[in-house]
Formats: sequence, C-alpha cells, structure tokens
Amino acid sequence: MKEWLKDAIFYEIYPQSFYDTNGDGVGDLNGIIEKLGYIRGLGFNAVWINPCFESPFGDAGYDVANYYKIAPRYGTNEDAKRLFAEAHRLGMRVILDLVPGHTSVECEWFKKSCLAEPNEYSGRYVWTDSIWTGIDGIPGISGTLRGISDRDGSCGVNFFSCQPALNYGFAERTAPWQSAVDSEDALATREAILDVIRFWLGLGCDGFRVDMAGSLVKNDPEQKETIKVWQDILGRVSSEFPEAAFVSEWGEPDKALIAGFDMDFLLHFGPSHYLDLFREKPYFSSAEHGDLSAFFETYMKNYTLTNGRGYICIPSGNHDMTRIKHFLTDDEIKLAYAFIMSMPGVPFIYYGDEIGMDFIEGLTSVEGGYNRTGSRTPMQWDDTPNAGFSSAAPDALYIPQCLRADSPNVKAQSADEGSLLNELKRIIAVRRFLPELLPDAGFKLISAGDASHPLVYIRGGRLLIAINPSDTERSCECDAVIEKTVYKNGGAAYAENGRLTVPPGSVSYVYIK
Ligand code: NOJ
Repeated sequence: MKEWLKDAIFYEIYPQSFYDTNGDGVGDLNGIIEKLGYIRGLGFNAVWINPCFESPFGDAGYDVANYYKIAPRYGTNEDAKRLFAEAHRLGMRVILDLVPGHTSVECEWFKKSCLAEPNEYSGRYVWTDSIWTGIDGIPGISGTLRGISDRDGSCGVNFFSCQPALNYGFAERTAPWQSAVDSEDALATREAILDVIRFWLGLGCDGFRVDMAGSLVKNDPEQKETIKVWQDILGRVSSEFPEAAFVSEWGEPDKALIAGFDMDFLLHFGPSHYLDLFREKPYFSSAEHGDLSAFFETYMKNYTLTNGRGYICIPSGNHDMTRIKHFLTDDEIKLAYAFIMSMPGVPFIYYGDEIGMDFIEGLTSVEGGYNRTGSRTPMQWDDTPNAGFSSAAPDALYIPQCLRADSPNVKAQSADEGSLLNELKRIIAVRRFLPELLPDAGFKLISAGDASHPLVYIRGGRLLIAINPSDTERSCECDAVIEKTVYKNGGAAYAENGRLTVPPGSVSYVYIK
C-alpha cells in the first residue's frame, strides 16, 4: 500500500469550473495552483483533477486527443509541472484522470487507424473487417462507428459515439477480426497506455483516477482478462514508481484490488446502493426515513473481501451525479460528511460540495454533460461578479453560474462559524487527529441504519460513531460504555441499560470502554 494513501483525503476538481485566471470563462491549471492553499486549509491533502488533456471536448475531456499535452485552455505541460511541485511543497498530492478505454475521434492514433493503408495504428482500436459488420451487442461495446474511415470496417465505441474503443483484445473471440488479448495489436495498446502513465508520473504527478477501468477487454463477462491486463500494467508501474497511486472507476472493489488498484470508488450505478445514502430516498434526509440495510449488505461483503488489500472510496458526489445538495439540507449534509470522514477507506469530496453548491436544473448540455451539466457549474468563491470564478462576461462562462440570490459561496461560509464549510473543516481535522479514523483501522458495524434505527459502527476497536439523521430519537442494542465524546453535532448519544440512544439530527464520535 502506498504510504501516502494512509491519511489521504481527496478533493475532486472539475478544472473547467474551478477557477479561471486568464478571463476566458474556463478554469485553468493556474487557477488550481492559486487555490491549492484554500484546499489545503480545509484539511485536504490530495486532489483528483478530471481530464485536462488536449481534446475536442465532446465528453468534457473524457475524449482525449493527445494524452501527452495539457489542453491549451487549461495551460501547458509546464503549468502542470508547477502544479505538481507546488502541491508537493504544500504537502499535497495530485492525481490526474486516465482514460484508457477510448480516445477522441480527433486523436492521431484514431486518424491513422482510419487509413486504408495498414500502419502501426490499424489495430489500435476495435475494428471489424467490413463496413457492413457492426459490433453492437458485444459486452463492453456501446455502439458502432461506420462510414467515417477509408478502411473497410466499422469501429466499436466505448461510451459516446465520439469515443472509439481502444483495442485490448477479446476474452472470448467469436469472429476472426477480434484480436486475442495477447495479440501484437492488443499488447501495443497496453504499452501505449503504459507510456502515458510513465510520462505524467515522470513529470511529478502522484497517480491516476482511472476511467471505466473495467472496460478494457471486450467480451470479458467476468473481467478476468481485464484484471490480468491491469495486473501487468500496474505491476510494472509500481516497480518503476512505487508511490504512484491508482483509484479505479470500477465499482467492484474485489476485482479492482485484485487487478492491482489501490482503491475503488463506490459508484452511483451498479450494485453499490450508494444512492441510498445521499440521493434517492436518502438515509441522510431527516424526513425520508431511508434504509441502509441493502447498502451495508453490499458494503460489508466488499469490505470483507478487500480489507487489508486496498480501499473503498466513498465520494460526496462527482461530475457525473446530481449534487448532494439537491437531496439534502446543509444540516443533513454535515451528518453525511461526518459519515464519509469516519468510514474506512479514502474519502473524496467533489468541488463545491463543501459549501453545498446546488444542482442547477434545466441547463443546456455543455460538452456532453447532458443531465450532468447542472453539477458542473462554476465554483462560487465570493459575492463579486461570476461569484469570483472568472472576470469574463457572464455569457462567456463555460457553464452559466448559479443565479440564486441565496446561493452559497466560500467567502461567506468561511466567515460563518456554523456553515457547512466550517463544519467539514472541523470534521476533517478530527479525522486527521484520530488514529481510529485512518483508512485501515478496523470497522465493526453495530446497527446498519434502517428506517427505524440509528447508524452505529466502531472504528479501531474503541471509537464509536452514532448517526441519526432522522427527525425522531432512535436507539439500538449496544452494550458499550461511553468514555468520552470527541466530536458531536446535535445532541449527544448516550448509552444506558444495554441500549444506545441517538438524538434526532445528530452525530457523535465517542470513545468507548
Ligand atoms: C466516466 C466519466 O466519469 C464520465 O464523465 C465519462 O463521460 C465516461 N466515463 C466516459 O469516459
């Protein structure tokens, strides 16, 4: 395990919307550098930056045109190097976003791959042997690109139509045009991505969040071959860059950690029941009386499978999901953060979630955002024009700013002791201070938090966390004796006659005997 992950707390930055220093309406790397002190000041010691490479931005940069070059709108490779160096000076780490499953149609690799004359890139993508042969329906392929090449063939798509699938081979081959996983072409793709990883680690970045990590090998229902590809890639990376950390967008931590990732995200889709926490009928809402039984059933299974081998990451949100504020009030979010920061593994907070920025409904899609656009609006720094995000004209902003009069900003919340921002800062400080809250410290679930019970668990054998987001007092069986409260928000939990009672709308971290 990479040492630095043992106390890492991440802040996710969507670079377009974070801070614009050159007045073009789009955030930039210099903006991130300027705001590192702010992020550090909140207690975060690591950032994940969404893709910032050259791209036509058909999917906000998840369609990379040149893996080796920072997109000019964000700055230069030199700026990236300064960002890494400045972060390190502040005791922080920076991970970038690696998109290994697909590129943009604008990528040179793809353009060469489209040529009729066979060349080094002809097998870099998943091509059929005839324009009339499609690829729809094959697991791992989301569509077919046809009629865009001189070569006779159609190309598989990994996500949107602008994202042709890179070729890592097929686990089960059903047609001659499908490469084997150990074919020359599939191995060349693997090497190409490995080179990209080496390049950025060599410039000083500390690791990667890996997009659609489980998507590499096609027709690989159990993902056994994809796992082997990653074992090979990450095995080689870790011998060259032992401290580089990798977090996967996979959503199946047991597979991801076997594949060699250090951490895997809980995703808002798939089997995790993440939405039960903070989104649909959320447990953390006072009125909804949600139920975390199904969430913990999956979580405990994964926790048992992965404990000691790597981390499960619980995010407050991300650039793909509706913001937490759409479902919860600031007071409820405070409890949600007390949960995120006291769970095992490594926590991630999405930019703007620290002040409860809202999901903005009804926006026209920007750069393939669609319904996600409302969670990607510019950061709200203060009460100056454009909320301090940019000096550009309002209609030149990357995405329109939230115009609600009472919408939160960093400046106002910093000055308000009771704000969400300041509560999060306190919670992070507590997490950083207590060894029981380190990612590896033990976890024992006492009460999973269903529609009538509090959520109660013990970290590191002696720190009990009791949370009751509901509007009524809740209790559960628990024979612990409380020694000392180290953090609380709302009324204090108390233990009596073998029961633990947790007041409505409260969280307590207590040492127990
Ligand atoms: C997952 C990313 O988080 C999302 O934003 C992107 O659209 C897809 N992968 C495709 O790369």
